[in-house]
Amino acid sequence: MKKKPFYITTPIYYPSDKLHIGHSYCTVATDVMARYKRMCGFDVMFLTGTDEHGQKIEEKAAAAGVTPQQYVDNIVSGIHDLWKLMNISNDRFIRTTDDYHVESVQKIFKELYDRGDIYKGSYKGKYCTPCESFWTESQLVDGKCPDCGREVKDAEEEAYFFRLSKYADRLMKFYYEDNPTFIEPVSRLNEMVNNFIKPGLEDLCVSRTSFSWGIPVTFDPGHIVYVWVDALSNYITALGYGNDKYHDYDKYWPADVHFVGKEITRFHTIIWPAMLMALDLPLPKKVFGHGWLLLEGGKMSKSKGNVVDPVVLCERYGVDAIRYFLLREFPFGSDGIFSNEALINRINADLANDLGNLVSRTLTMCEKYFGHNVPQDRRFEPLDEELTEMLDLVKKNYAALMETFTFQSALAEVFKVIARANKYIDETAPWVLGKDEAQYDRLAAVIYNLLEVIRIAATLLTPFMPDSCAKIFEQLGCQPDECTYEKAIYFANTDYYVQKGANLFPRIDLKKELELLEAKNAEKQKAAEQAKKKEEKKSEKKEEKKEEKIEGIISIDDFMNVQLVVAKITDCVPVPKADKLLQLTLDDGSGTPRQVVSGIHSWYEPEDLIGKKVAVVANLKPAKLRGIMSYGMILAADMGEAAKVLFIDDAVPCGARIR
Ligand code: ME8
Repeated sequence: MKKKPFYITTPIYYPSDKLHIGHSYCTVATDVMARYKRMCGFDVMFLTGTDEHGQKIEEKAAAAGVTPQQYVDNIVSGIHDLWKLMNISNDRFIRTTDDYHVESVQKIFKELYDRGDIYKGSYKGKYCTPCESFWTESQLVDGKCPDCGREVKDAEEEAYFFRLSKYADRLMKFYYEDNPTFIEPVSRLNEMVNNFIKPGLEDLCVSRTSFSWGIPVTFDPGHIVYVWVDALSNYITALGYGNDKYHDYDKYWPADVHFVGKEITRFHTIIWPAMLMALDLPLPKKVFGHGWLLLEGGKMSKSKGNVVDPVVLCERYGVDAIRYFLLREFPFGSDGIFSNEALINRINADLANDLGNLVSRTLTMCEKYFGHNVPQDRRFEPLDEELTEMLDLVKKNYAALMETFTFQSALAEVFKVIARANKYIDETAPWVLGKDEAQYDRLAAVIYNLLEVIRIAATLLTPFMPDSCAKIFEQLGCQPDECTYEKAIYFANTDYYVQKGANLFPRIDLKKELELLEAKNAEKQKAAEQAKKKEEKKSEKKEEKKEEKIEGIISIDDFMNVQLVVAKITDCVPVPKADKLLQLTLDDGSGTPRQVVSGIHSWYEPEDLIGKKVAVVANLKPAKLRGIMSYGMILAADMGEAAKVLFIDDAVPCGARIR
């Protein structure tokens, strides 16, 4: 029979720094769901990846003295290692720098433009000239540039916009009529509608010209696709939409669920569906906005040095213990506070005591009284029914809870039956039965029941703790076809061949371990503080350099970097619809005419200029003014109200260098 498809995704993470336990949290949850669905017989596509473009990465790379590509390659390689360590079973990994993704995004952008859903406008913001950066009003610190603290001014840059505003009504209809369970938890739906849709959606800026690390807009050089169109498209480009790299878009799209953190739910439930509506594509079935892991002092932050490193924890306590803790401790839809104490207590109570003890006691008794096999001669008693009925119910509850991503409660169900089984050992007292040969048939039934509980619990726990559960199956001596989800029912007539192995979850000494972790943390914090101080010193030096430049102290080398040459104006026309601009054609002695756009039309007409010689900055970064490229700048004296072009004696030849 053909398997039903199930498509699940994580956000694609920014490789601007090493990932922390918060990123692991979402990826582990997605992995658990993917493994659960595979176990239920679905054909699963589990996608994760990295969101590699943008100004922040460009700046980080520059600070590290490497190219952006080198910078992200290094971080992404660490992310691959992390997911391998954490036993993440993703089927695909997308990088937004992958060629096929770039090709698809360019097609999507053009398609939206051709359909009229992307249009050219201008992006208004506060501009800091020395930093060459645009800021929004809310990003300013005391009304000044948040980076350098200098004055900013109102400025505009040409940009493309997506007609998000057009989709408000269709989104509301989608949420309330077509797919009422699209946004979960439901509190997030209210937040989206009340905070964003009702106050009115604004069109979204989807291109920038102020940085270059991104996907170029094919039909307008200089424009770079701005983050969300690039990032969100990953969910379909990774299936082959708009490229030939993959061919399973038809099979897996629309996605069954996007798991995302609560802070980006808005992008996934407003922008992403609107983009898909504009492209006439089906919308994802569900977006689940999970909560944050916080620390006592608030959010994790690299600069505070209080980021929890998943690698350290996995190496110290085992990957499965961390996977289990993350999903057992915190309700998936809400925020939770991470602490080492909670982690260790949870490992000790649930894994070492409840599960670990059940396995170790049962297997020890089985080997002691019967060797590897439980005799077939078994006497069952009414007490057993309580246990077996509970097993049945637990599986049903577990399935329902897993389907709604209620991992914490699904695990609680399984641990209910584990606790019940431990109690059953005390009630049946096998050590007493073992002393009387006449009771061996009863003892066989008790041990068999316990083995059944362990097998079923381990099957249900497999998506959460795949390695540990495989070890349990090994100790039970079950064949792979006996530890399937269908057989996770009581009395599957399992053939056990018991061989007790090493303890799965050793107990941790809470006090000692906390001291050790605190010492490690203090070390890390100290290192972070030192790094911060170093960073501050570095930026102070940079500032000093900047100040020097601004106050006019530059070296001769700085001056010689500016190529000033003499050029003759051979042609000059006004720029249409731009009162102040003139388009000049210059002969700079190179043999190729040079085009320059200059803002001097208020004071000069073309006939005042044609035939005259001027000084031009020849190595200025090309810029686009009102859609016309300008390759250089002619010199003029700024007199406040007016400007005077510096004309040069006609005897000076074109191309002569001015120094
Ligand atoms: O937002 N607790 O990437 P990102 C829980 N590239 N989850 C956390 C967390 C925490 N403290 N910190 C991070 C981006 N996460 C974009 C996404 S998708 C098309 C583009 C998790 O590296 C959580 O899932 O900032 C959050 O949404 C995601 O990491 C943000 O990762």
